[in-house]
Amino acid sequence: MFNLILFGPPGSGKGTQSDKLVDKYGLKHLSTGNLLRQEIADKTPLGIEAKSFMDKGQLVPDEVVIGMVDSYFDQHIEARGFLFDGFPRTVAQAVALDKLLELKKTSIAAVLALEVGEEELVKRLLNRGKTSGRSDDTNEEVIRKRFAVYSNETTPVAEHYKKAKKFKSIKGEGTVGQIFDAICEAIDKKIER
Ligand code: AP5
Repeated sequence: MFNLILFGPPGSGKGTQSDKLVDKYGLKHLSTGNLLRQEIADKTPLGIEAKSFMDKGQLVPDEVVIGMVDSYFDQHIEARGFLFDGFPRTVAQAVALDKLLELKKTSIAAVLALEVGEEELVKRLLNRGKTSGRSDDTNEEVIRKRFAVYSNETTPVAEHYKKAKKFKSIKGEGTVGQIFDAICEAIDKKIER
């Protein structure tokens, strides 16, 4: 299995790039944001609980997200590898993911982090909010809250993978194609090793 994490703040292009990467490398896309939005659309108890956190720009509790990832993983065990998008978002989630992968006798090959300035991120998200129907994109206050949560709870995850020498920053500004090429270059170097 070849497993990657696409890391970066809200609006940095993780979802956009994931769609292209899963096509090119034949990986299974595991976006916890998409899984949670599906639970909300299906009006499941998990979705109803998650919505109250997501609407405020807060993280959904670790145990809820880890349980969801665990069962998604088991349902797609035949996959060549996974592209994790928006997960892990806390150190507890990163530790749980390490353990889960170890049990499956695999690991994370690389963490690729998209770097984008905050004003560009706000612009992208407000713009998407005009059409996405995502309640967390329409209110600038909620968007700023998501950045604060990212800074406080998610940036320590970068340290976790830097210690493991798996972390690589990638410039996330430019055209979608330019950024895709830079990500592919980093992945191809990993595959060649
Ligand atoms: P989630 O769905 O993961 O959202 P996010 O991290 O906030 O990321 P986004 O989807 O907003 O951005 P993205 O980086 O994917 O960028 P995208 O490609 O879409 O999480 C939502 C919520 O769910 C969280 O706040 C939390 O409550 C909960 N949650 C999810 N995972 C969780 C977890 N693990 N633990 C706990 N809670 C969790 O692009 C954004 C926009 O920019 C698009 O309009 C796109 O077209 C545009 N764009 C992309 N690339 C470019 C470019 N190069 N130039 C110009 N525009 C671009």
